[in-house]
Amino acid sequence: MDIFHIEGPVQLSGVVNINGSKNASLPIMAAAMLAAGKSVIKAVPYLSDISIFGQLLGQLGCKIDRRPNGDLCIDSQVIDNPIGEYEVVRKMRASVCILGPLLARCGRVEVSMPGGCAIGDRPIDIHLHGLSELGAKIHLKNGYVVAEAPKNGLRGKDIFMGGPFGSTVLGTANVLMAATLAKGKTVIESAACEPEVVDLANFITKMGAKIDGIGSPRLIIEGVKQLAPAEYQVIPDRIEAGTFMVAAAITAGQLQLVNCRLDDMMAVVDRLRNIGVTVEAANGGCVVARKGSAIKPADITTQPYPGFPTDLQAQFMALLSLAKGNSVVIEKIFPDRFMHIAELNRMAANLRKEGPACLVAGVKKLIAAPVMASDLRASAALVLAGLVAEGTTIVNRVYHIDRGYEKIEEKLNRVGAKILRQAV
Ligand code: EPU
Repeated sequence: MDIFHIEGPVQLSGVVNINGSKNASLPIMAAAMLAAGKSVIKAVPYLSDISIFGQLLGQLGCKIDRRPNGDLCIDSQVIDNPIGEYEVVRKMRASVCILGPLLARCGRVEVSMPGGCAIGDRPIDIHLHGLSELGAKIHLKNGYVVAEAPKNGLRGKDIFMGGPFGSTVLGTANVLMAATLAKGKTVIESAACEPEVVDLANFITKMGAKIDGIGSPRLIIEGVKQLAPAEYQVIPDRIEAGTFMVAAAITAGQLQLVNCRLDDMMAVVDRLRNIGVTVEAANGGCVVARKGSAIKPADITTQPYPGFPTDLQAQFMALLSLAKGNSVVIEKIFPDRFMHIAELNRMAANLRKEGPACLVAGVKKLIAAPVMASDLRASAALVLAGLVAEGTTIVNRVYHIDRGYEKIEEKLNRVGAKILRQAV
């Protein structure tokens, strides 16, 4: 298990390349199974979550090949074992997005029911509701969700996919994928509008699906008999980009981000500008800087897209903990996603959880401490705090961060950080 030693404080400056999106890549890899044959996906990042998902597709029968140029080739000619085993699903909840494509392609699928995780309960009731509306018979057997399509296949329908927290990203992905091969028209009302869902819809469209309303909360899908493999490039990772934006801001530095779509990040850019950070578009990316000005407090509420993303809540909390004044951060997607509060407080932040909110009283400085990564984004927040904390911060369990950030310490070190990875 690796740990990071982070020497602080540092000021970052330089150019950072943003990778392809993890959360776009995973459902797109699943969608490749909708057609028999070889799909080629470009710009898929090298992450442990991607390797685990590749292993899962391999267990189902696909052949996965990373070409020397980085392209990920998925050969889904044969799928002879449509079962998502507990051993894989327990490592990665996103495995649940094989439900939709396998139900449509094979007529039957079993997937281990995902349990809770560090950020909350994360039920899949809305996924199952949507698939059963398409005609699937679903039951739970020994901890596995078993879904079966009727003999004459899935049937399109008008489906409401809203839930207590708004829309669901992977739920929308699952039902969208299944509906592309259903008979007739499906309307998904209250569909998630996240850029990753748009990317998935664009990929499936390239495979031959007929989808209207892409990017809106109403997706209209006209089922087709068959889809064909396709070649596709995934969008840049807006959460990795947002994390590096905070890195520039928290260190009072300047970073140029290459391969970053500001259009996907308007809520984030708006908050940064409120906090006193400049963000300017530049050559297919942007330049983010905080020069001399203090960090201003700001209130943040996480919401479904186009609102502020929950996946950047922890990183912004690290930033606001150094603001001149008090901020409030409200988590409306995963009300328990606050494991980083106690760890940041070990670094002398002044954070207090009040239900699904956190009161952030700005402090003058953070002080290094040994801390524990609990989930992917919480660990990113600890690394960001470590960049400016006085002394050597030790972040334990960095495997969490490796799930979603490709070589984060190398990228940060190239622009002035002092992070050492140690195997323990
Ligand atoms: N929800 C339900 N029932 C469902 C599905 C969701 O009540 O059937 C609730 C969830 O508990 C949550 C809310 O709806 O309160 C939204 O969850 P959503 O389904 O949108 O989350 P997800 O699809 O499981 C994806 C990302 C997460 C990201 C969320 C929200 C992937 C692989 N995961 O999860 O990313 O936080 O959307 O944007 O795309 C991460 O990358 O660190 C990460 C956790």
